[in-house]
Amino acid sequence: MKIEEALKQYPKENLTRTPTPLQFLPHLSEDLGLNFYLKRDDLTDLALGGDKPRKLEYEIAQAKAKGADYLVTCGSSQSNHARLTTAAACRLGLDVAVVLSHDQWHAIQGNLLTVYLMGARVEIIHTEDHWDLEEHALALCKELENDGRKPHYIPVSGTTPHSSLGYISGALETYEQLSTQGVVPDAIYLPFGTGGIFTAMMLTFREKGIDAPFIGISVNRSLDKCDANLDKWWGALCELLDINPARPRGEFDLHEKFIGQEYGDPTEAGLDAIMKMATAEGILLDPVYSGKVFSGFLSHYAEGRWEEGQNILMLHSGGVPAVFAYASIIEEHLRKRGRL
Ligand SMILES: Cc1ncc(COP(=O)(O)O)c(C=O)c1O
Repeated sequence: MKIEEALKQYPKENLTRTPTPLQFLPHLSEDLGLNFYLKRDDLTDLALGGDKPRKLEYEIAQAKAKGADYLVTCGSSQSNHARLTTAAACRLGLDVAVVLSHDQWHAIQGNLLTVYLMGARVEIIHTEDHWDLEEHALALCKELENDGRKPHYIPVSGTTPHSSLGYISGALETYEQLSTQGVVPDAIYLPFGTGGIFTAMMLTFREKGIDAPFIGISVNRSLDKCDANLDKWWGALCELLDINPARPRGEFDLHEKFIGQEYGDPTEAGLDAIMKMATAEGILLDPVYSGKVFSGFLSHYAEGRWEEGQNILMLHSGGVPAVFAYASIIEEHLRKRGRL
């Protein structure tokens, strides 16, 4: 069965307008001497956009089929996923609770501000590590069940086998756009958080016969954990889509050196990358995901990995509201670079 047909077996809610644009960036391309394309998933039209609406369309369809009336999820205090799960719940008439870590970005700004605005139940947990939040979220689900509610738990970043189908669909959409524009990519740059987006897009492109290297820029985890996640989502997606998991994965590489000290650390290279994209194209990236992905590409470019005239594709997965929570660090950086 073709991957498009296999995908059609799964129900989805309608949370966003697609396709998002696939844009050629003329100034950046001229500056770098290659062709730079940006897939604009920051422009999905649910509450300031990003990757999550695509994931939630499939995940919430599963939840509703099981009778869920309450979504529960968790993340960092500037979680894009918390913002978009809240928005999706509002759109679909479900209740929502978000369990968030009390990390250093907990000012009522950016994503956290929007979560309060949209009326989620917010539980702030005093842990620095948002990977510890799951047990608190599951305890909240138990409490809700005891009150007669039907909660559906969505893990950090919204990644599950079903939600990852959203990026099978997103990758098919990107593939169609590349074909229409007559572009054969030479490299594809993506963020790697839990690896849901990366795995789903790589599997889809391989099924469609595109063999360009997939380059994952880790935003939080060491390479061994990324590899383990890739194996996990690859197996789960192959099972859902009836694909032999032993099929070749093609060329890919994952990088941990752009994370900085930890998840959410605004690196110098990431902030410079944000400035470069903003100045060249008037497109905003964020300090946690897309700025780091672009800094990874720029570093490889500076090392001479890419040649003149090659086609580079990068996914902009969103995250821009966090810019406002990072305002003072960005201000400091702008001063350092003489822009203020
Ligand atoms: C803007 C943005 N990009 C990328 C990701 C990471 O996606 P994945 O966990 O599927 O690797 C996230 C996760 O929260 C995100 O908010």
